Formats: sequence, C-alpha cells, structure tokens
Amino acid sequence: MEEQRESWGSKTGFILAAAGSAIGLGNIWKFPYIAGENGGASFVIVYLICIATIGLPVLIAEILIGRSGQRNPVGAFRKLSHSKFWAGVGGMGIVGGFLILSFYAIIAGWAIGYIVEAITGSFFDFVDPAASAEYFKDLVGNVYWILGYFILFMILTTVIVFAGVRKGIERGSKIMMPILFVLLIVLMVRGVTLDGAGKGLDFLWNPDWSKINANSILIALGHAFFTLSLGMGAMLTYGSYMSKKDNIVISAAQIVFLDTLIALIAGMAIFSSVFAAGLDPQAGPGLIFHTLPSVFIKMPGGYFFSIIFFILLTLAALTSSISLLEVVVSYFVDERKWKRHNAAIVLAFIITLLGVPSALSFNVLSDFKIFGLDFFALVDFLASNIMLPLGGLLISIFVAWIWGYDRVIPNLKEGAQNLFEKYPWIIVCWKIFLKYFSPILIFLVFLHSIGILDKIINLF
Ligand code: PHE
Repeated sequence: MEEQRESWGSKTGFILAAAGSAIGLGNIWKFPYIAGENGGASFVIVYLICIATIGLPVLIAEILIGRSGQRNPVGAFRKLSHSKFWAGVGGMGIVGGFLILSFYAIIAGWAIGYIVEAITGSFFDFVDPAASAEYFKDLVGNVYWILGYFILFMILTTVIVFAGVRKGIERGSKIMMPILFVLLIVLMVRGVTLDGAGKGLDFLWNPDWSKINANSILIALGHAFFTLSLGMGAMLTYGSYMSKKDNIVISAAQIVFLDTLIALIAGMAIFSSVFAAGLDPQAGPGLIFHTLPSVFIKMPGGYFFSIIFFILLTLAALTSSISLLEVVVSYFVDERKWKRHNAAIVLAFIITLLGVPSALSFNVLSDFKIFGLDFFALVDFLASNIMLPLGGLLISIFVAWIWGYDRVIPNLKEGAQNLFEKYPWIIVCWKIFLKYFSPILIFLVFLHSIGILDKIINLF
C-alpha cells in the first residue's frame, strides 16, 4: 500500500505556513527599496492594484492545482493534464526552487551575520551611510564570512524541512510568524514615534502621480509574483497538503492580506526611520544593509532595535526558504520515491553547492561576467524575472483555458460552497481575471523582463 501523503494539521497551520512563504526578504528587504526608487506612495497604489487583480487570482489558481492534484508541481500538472508539456511546466518550478533558494539563502545569511554585528556593537562605528556601506563591502568581500552564514542558513532551512510538513514546516511557522509580527510592530512604533518620522510616512502614503510610468507598473507586477511566492509551485506544493474541507478563496485572501500588511508595516518602519535620520530613501538594494545600520545608531534604543530588526529579517527569510526547499523535496519524495530525510539533506547540499559561485560573485568571482551580469545577478534574473512570470503565465493559462472551468469550478467549490452561494460574483470575477487579465498583463511583465518591451516603449 502506498504511504499516506503528509498534510497540514489545521487550517491555521496552512495559512501561517503559506503566509510565511509569502512574507520574506521580498517584503522587508525588496519592497521598501523598490518603493523608494519608484516614487513611494504612487508605486504602493499600483502595487496594491496588481496584488488584488493578478496576485490573488493566480494564488487561488496555484493552490487549487496543488489541492486537486495532491502532488508536487510535476505530479500535479501531470495528473490533471495527462500531458508531458504541462508536467514540464511543473518541472520548471522545481528548477526554480533550486535556483531561487541558492541565492535567496545568501542574502538571508547576511541577515544572520548582521544579527551578530548588531549584538557586538559594530554599528556604533557608522558615522554615516558611506561608512556602513564600506563595512558591508568588506564583510561580503570576505569569502569565509559570506559562505559561513550562507551554509548556516541552509542548515537551519534543512532542519525544518527534514522534520516534515506538520512537525517541521507547520510547527516552525506557528512559532516564527507570531514572533515576526510582534517584532515588526515594535519596530514600526519605534520608527513612527521618532522626530521627523512624518516625512517618511508622507513619502509612503502621499501619491505623486507624475512618478507612475510603464516601468514602475511592470516592476510592481513582477514584485507581486515574487512576494506572493507565485509562479514556481511553492504555493502549489503547500496547497497539495491542504484538506478539501478548507476554503481556498478565503485562505488565499488571508495570505494576500497578511503579506501586504507586513510589506506596508515594514515600509512604514523603514521609511520613518530613514527620513527621521535625514537619509536617502532611494538607496536601492543596499537600503537595509547600508543605510539602516547608520540609522539605528542615531535612534534612542537603536542597539536593541537593530538586533530585533535583523532577527526579524532572518525569521522572515527562513519561513520562505523552507517553502523553496519543500518544492524540491516534494518532487523527489513523490516522483522518485526518496525518503524525506535523505531528500532534504541531499538536495540542500546540492543547492548549497549551486549557491557557492553566487556567493563568490561578491568577492573572488566579482569580475566574472556572463551577459554583463555576475553569477548572483544572473541566477536572480533567470529565476525571478524569467521563470516566475513565465510560470505564472502558464499557470493562469492552464487553469483558465486548458483544464477548463467546467472541471475547475467544482474543485474550487469544495470547502467553499457557502461562499459561492452567498457571493456568486466572486467566482465570476475570478474567472474573468484569470482568463484575460492575468495572462495579458503577465505577458507584458515577461516581455519587460527580457527587455523587449522597453525597446518598444522607447520607440514612442
Ligand atoms: N515570497 C518570498 C519573499 O517575499 C520569496 C519566494 C519566492 C519564496 C518564490 C518562495 C517562492 O521573500
């Protein structure tokens, strides 16, 4: 007899694990800096529209494929489509899991390293952001530092996935997510009560419409995918452990709500602090590692708040990295009949090896470029800008056009009967958004990612 497939212990367990996957470096590291670079409030509004009109419908679709297929991405697509092509789309997700985790864990490693720096008081030397940027460059320039914390983070991820869906991922998320939430609130309260914080909040909440352009819309849409963990089967895999008694639509809405809330609170915490210190919100990817440490030393209680901040960042990254490793592990467990324990260790080891050249691209391999990108940037670009939008595009096409709504809707209704009877328009909206809106807009993001759209826009 086949072994019983693992499943979530409770509905809350699923929501927290999936919200944990969604909430990560994307919310706390990436969202604030891309909002900073793209005009603040006006970008936030565009982002919210993208989340609601594309993120949510695709998230529902992805969870649904997982729950109906009861398998990893390859197995679920194969079971529902009986086609090699669509199984291959699932396969792209598995490859995406390998690639994304291999560079994601490097940045997450920096977060752990910065907990140590915060505790040992290194930040007190940072008289200005230039000094902390210099310090950052020295740290990532050190091969042992970068590899050490990268490997440490991979070990933490492996331990949780090794322990299983219920005992590892669910339990870990139930412990880490509430802590994350409390730490973030503490930081936000600290930020907004600083003198001069108002300017930061204005920046985040008062839109300047002149800043909106095609480029910022596409960045917002691309980020909607990354932040909701869409397009590579993470939500599909988590959905495959879900019960048919649970309501997918409501769960997805809760996940989207939590993810957005955390991004906005993180934005408030970070911008109020950055503006209060009179620094530049447009610092780019270095906003958190260069700018923030020099902000912390200027604020009352900064020593503690800096420690809290990097613990928060580490926890957020960890609840996401476990979902990335789980995608890969679930494939080898379901399809290749590996034991979970072996799969977790062996696959994490391979991913760590894959990450080594990315880690070295900050130091010894910094001059090694492929298409003008170093190894880290190349893997990030391939996975985040090509694979995720392409995966999202194919997922919406599959559910809306291939699998067919006459088969999709009965599946979606399982666990959601009441909702659909009360609010039939929900199903109508979802069908339309997924069939027309999402594919067209995602296709545009995709063209943008490969640079074609920019050239067309520049023609006018
Ligand atoms: N959503 C995560 C974040 O915002 C990143 C992620 C992407 C995780 C894709 C899993 C899959 O940090």
